[in-house]
Amino acid sequence: MAQRVVRGGAQDYLFKGRIESRLLGRSIRYAMERQTVKTFRDIFERTAAVIGDDFFRSLVSHLASALRVRYALVARFVDRPPPRARTLAFWTGQEHGENFEYLLAGTPCEQVVSGGERRHYPEGLKELFCEDTKLVNLGAESFLGTPLINSQGHVIGHLCVFDDKVMYAESWRNSIIKIFAARAGAELERLLAEEALRWSEEKLRQMVQGIIGAIMSMVEVGDPYTSGHQKRVALLATAIGQRIGLPEEQVQGLHYAALIHDLGKIYVPAQILNKPGRLNDIEFNLIKMHSKVGYDILKTVDFPWPVADIVVQHHERVDGSGYPNGLIGTDILLESRILAVADVVEAMTSHRPYRQALGLDRALQEIQQGRGNLYDPKAVDACLELIREGYRFDIVADPIRKGNRRKGLQLNRWTL
Ligand SMILES: [Fe+2]
Repeated sequence: MAQRVVRGGAQDYLFKGRIESRLLGRSIRYAMERQTVKTFRDIFERTAAVIGDDFFRSLVSHLASALRVRYALVARFVDRPPPRARTLAFWTGQEHGENFEYLLAGTPCEQVVSGGERRHYPEGLKELFCEDTKLVNLGAESFLGTPLINSQGHVIGHLCVFDDKVMYAESWRNSIIKIFAARAGAELERLLAEEALRWSEEKLRQMVQGIIGAIMSMVEVGDPYTSGHQKRVALLATAIGQRIGLPEEQVQGLHYAALIHDLGKIYVPAQILNKPGRLNDIEFNLIKMHSKVGYDILKTVDFPWPVADIVVQHHERVDGSGYPNGLIGTDILLESRILAVADVVEAMTSHRPYRQALGLDRALQEIQQGRGNLYDPKAVDACLELIREGYRFDIVADPIRKGNRRKGLQLNRWTL
């Protein structure tokens, strides 16, 4: 103790032959405070700039060094029975050890977590917790641990140091571990919040994929051509969206909307959808209703993107000649303008029961001629770039056996 106090600045203690006990006490207290502040500053400086795993690793190594103990660990509480903890970082005395999970029962950590307050065992740890084989194997003799508490006051983990020699109760040690437990608790709470957010995002993603998959299966049962068409359109539309530089989130919405954009065709009898020969006005108008029917089905689903609006607008054209509402220019969602380009290119390059594929050249000619009047110029340019660079539809374009296919072109049905 005297050595440490002198190192901390109480030199008077050595040089004054005779000193009043009151002054000596003050000098020692002053030195210890200086030592505590210095230790606190050292750890703070070494851990301030790091977060996450790096923070916990840095914390345990510097804490063990500053508190002059061999071991230090920080662990999170695992909320599933039986009660257990998982280390976030573990300092073994010379290096960082592997993280591990352990049952809390019969350990000093259990006392910290269940009691929700600091625990100090200055000596005799092996005898007190003889069932804790890990501690026994490490030769742990003493322990100081404190809970990590979140902003709601719940214990979410613990920070502890332990040593293979006696660890006397000292206020500077308690102060330092208390302060850094608060910092570690805040960091752990942040990590847990991030984890919870990632979990809900993943759940949402799975839910959306489930809904989209169910709708696709429904369409596929009634009309395999439409199903394959939607998948190929989704791939091209996604590539166009990425090429234009849309944010990833928006591209994701475009992709999902494209996968089900012709959903409303389940309302149209297959005999009309696949009718060989020219459609009469009634049949044509019935097919044109599919975008609005798709909207009516999707509008009640609370997607994170405007999927129903993208779907209802995918046959709108920038000059107002589209349907169902004759929207003009940027009144049409960008996603729908992209979808329109991908839709027409795929439709013209695929076989249909009532016609053969028109070919890629005809499809590119169509969007070039319609650039700026029917189709969004940026979407057209991005699509042309992609095709020039070698983009090809990589899903089989004709899901139905060959044959039974009427020859001849029906230009008015490219983009239904
Ligand atoms: Fe359509």
